[in-house]
Amino acid sequence: MHRYKKIMIFLSLAAFMFIGIAATTPQDDPKPPKRNLKILPKDISKEDLHKVMEGYSDALGVKCNFCHAPSKDPNQKWPDFASDEKPEKNIARKMMKMTAKINKKYFSFNKNPQGEMVPSVTCGTCHHGSQHPEFKAPPHEEHHEHPAPPPANN
Ligand code: HEC
Ligand code: HEC
Repeated sequence: MHRYKKIMIFLSLAAFMFIGIAATTPQDDPKPPKRNLKILPKDISKEDLHKVMEGYSDALGVKCNFCHAPSKDPNQKWPDFASDEKPEKNIARKMMKMTAKINKKYFSFNKNPQGEMVPSVTCGTCHHGSQHPEFKAPPHEEHHEHPAPPPANN
């Protein structure tokens, strides 16, 4: 149990560092907000959470509902953000851990003047606005399957 806690704290810290957001002062409030956060710090501010989420959306070129399942309430137009129903959300969690690990293991020398780690690798490093970075765009020629007819010879 103790060890598990330690691992979780470590993961939270790693995620926190790789996001590179300024630390918010920890609140004295003993009851943390009810959130389903497994990687990000549980006490992350609403503003910082949204910055992170917008960063993911931009990096993958998607909208929030790519990872977040629709709400069960038909009157609610926003997704159910806490739900883990969409597999993409858990893939994203794996990606968050992977990205944090890459930065910690191979780029830990990148520090700002305050000595804080600066993330060298982000979601965008690989994704570049695409959900599937492993798929290459088709070769340019393929767009010209039907070339314009040659000019008529007079
Ligand atoms: C690439 C996938 C992805 C995209 C796109 C995404 N999110 Fe998330 N979101 C996640 C993951 C993963 C978590 C849970 C993080 C964790 O477990 O620490 C999360 C958690 C959240 C939470 C916290 C929910 C709770 O448990 O209380 C909110 C709010 C949220 N996202 C809002 C948004 C908004 C708004 C957008 C669009 C601007 C967005 N997300 C886009 C993956 C994504
Ligand atoms: C080292 C490169 C790399 C980094 C960094 C990276 N990804 Fe990925 N990601 C990939 C690759 C490659 C795939 C496709 C894997 C596959 O389809 O088998 C992928 C797939 C995904 C998918 C699944 C897409 C789908 O259509 O099912 C999500 C979601 C995702 N990444 C989110 C993220 C988020 C969020 C981050 C940043 C925290 C991130 N990735 C960082 C390489 C990366």
